Amino acid sequence: MNESVAKPSHVHPVDVVIMAAGKGTRMHSKVPKVLHKLAGRPLLAHVLAAAQGLLARQVTVITGFDAERVEAALQTLSSEGLDLRLVRQQPQLGTGHAVQQAVPVLADDGVVLVLSGDVPLIRVETLAGLVGACEGKNLALLTLEVPDPTGYGRIVREAQGVQAIVEHKDASQEQRLIREIYSGIMAAPAAWLKTALARLDNRNTQAEYYLTDVVKLAVADGMPVVAHQTSSPMEVAGVNSAQQLAELERWYQGGVAQALMAQGVRLADPKRIDVRGELLCAQDVFIDVNCVFEGTVRLGEGVQVGANCVIRNASIAAGAVVHAFSHIEGGSADGKDAVTVGEGALIGPFARLRPGARLGAEVHIGNFVEVKNSVLAKGAKANHLAYLGDATVGERVNYGAGAITANYDGAAKHQTVIEADVHVGSNCVLIAPVTLGAGGTIGGGSTITKDTPPMALTVGRARQVSLANWKRPKKK
Ligand code: UD1
Ligand code: MG
Repeated sequence: MNESVAKPSHVHPVDVVIMAAGKGTRMHSKVPKVLHKLAGRPLLAHVLAAAQGLLARQVTVITGFDAERVEAALQTLSSEGLDLRLVRQQPQLGTGHAVQQAVPVLADDGVVLVLSGDVPLIRVETLAGLVGACEGKNLALLTLEVPDPTGYGRIVREAQGVQAIVEHKDASQEQRLIREIYSGIMAAPAAWLKTALARLDNRNTQAEYYLTDVVKLAVADGMPVVAHQTSSPMEVAGVNSAQQLAELERWYQGGVAQALMAQGVRLADPKRIDVRGELLCAQDVFIDVNCVFEGTVRLGEGVQVGANCVIRNASIAAGAVVHAFSHIEGGSADGKDAVTVGEGALIGPFARLRPGARLGAEVHIGNFVEVKNSVLAKGAKANHLAYLGDATVGERVNYGAGAITANYDGAAKHQTVIEADVHVGSNCVLIAPVTLGAGGTIGGGSTITKDTPPMALTVGRARQVSLANWKRPKKK
């Protein structure tokens, strides 16, 4: 839910540092924590999107645990034009040590914004507010009042303002009562931050270089420390365990559901929808329970989606109905392997539309029908148990139950062309490449190996014979 801000409101260039070197021990997983997925995208992708939304001049990611894997993922995640720097932190000696690794790639004239790779739902607006509070000259901390501050760094204030961040493990009983906590996100002028990072030590209970110790140094330097408060706990919530990841996912999905309903989309149950990408809906769309949307999905006016459908990278035109348990999987969002469904089409239940399925208006695809890389013209029907792969199907074609395009000869894929008004009987095998002429009829059970003429009945199967008084063999 990271929306782009139209213009950077900050006057100083922002250089983002994302800490992503930790292992994430409590995830109990071989996958580095920042690559675990929320709403279908790695945690790190969400943080990168926030940095990009903020129009950061440069984004530096600190990797450490399984650095190769995280770096490889970053290459595919980062968009063009992003000035992405990768810096390794090995071994991992704390958050201060992590940011120290970035010092060589940070220019002196910017504001450094430190983010955590495991805090995925931070909003661009909040970050812009924090950078604003930094004004290019203050140390700005993103803080939050929480009912239970256990485990977090506490914001220690005195009459003069914020004096320090004290880590939970180092805090006195009295300090542990403080409910204002540090979110893990700060903004500071680069030139000063570099001098502070050089002065960190690890004299604390964890023997780590704490980034949070820069606050004490700022106070000593007479540098103003500003606490910029957010009231949204989920926005700064970190992912440390599978439970927390699931909690954040539900919270995120709840937000998506509310936004859809605010536009008028009717959801049978806002708690039972998952959008892992972008779902764009016209007016009067209805979505039944347990549907999953991935990639970019467009639903036209009045589209109805039945229960338990999975729809990825597809455009479904006005008035189409996708019945329960249908699986629609376009390859890419708008490329030729996306799936398109025409106006008033009826899909499913239990239909499967694969990459490159392009269905015209009023097409019917029934139960256990699979369509891949095929174009079906207006009014074509394949209602039961059938396969159409690499086919071009004309208007009003009726494709019988159990009919199959044999499109693959073990080496190459071949095309099947079924011209308008053809009627393919049940249980036919169409051996591609082959063309069925317009208006023709193919007798049930035929294996078609040659092109068929228009308007003719073509039957390609052994003639039926009956042997009179046939005696079945008897058991001895
Ligand atoms: C940190 C803050 C704490 C704050 C909390 C908010 C410090 C010392 N403490 O504590 O005040 O309340 O976040 O969630 O900063 N990382 C590295 N290299 C390291 C250590 C950590 O890259 O050597 C990364 C982790 O992968 C993670 C982030 O830094 O993305 C935060 O580290 P974590 O160990 O979770 O810090 P906390 O103890 O939660
Ligand atoms: Mg943490």
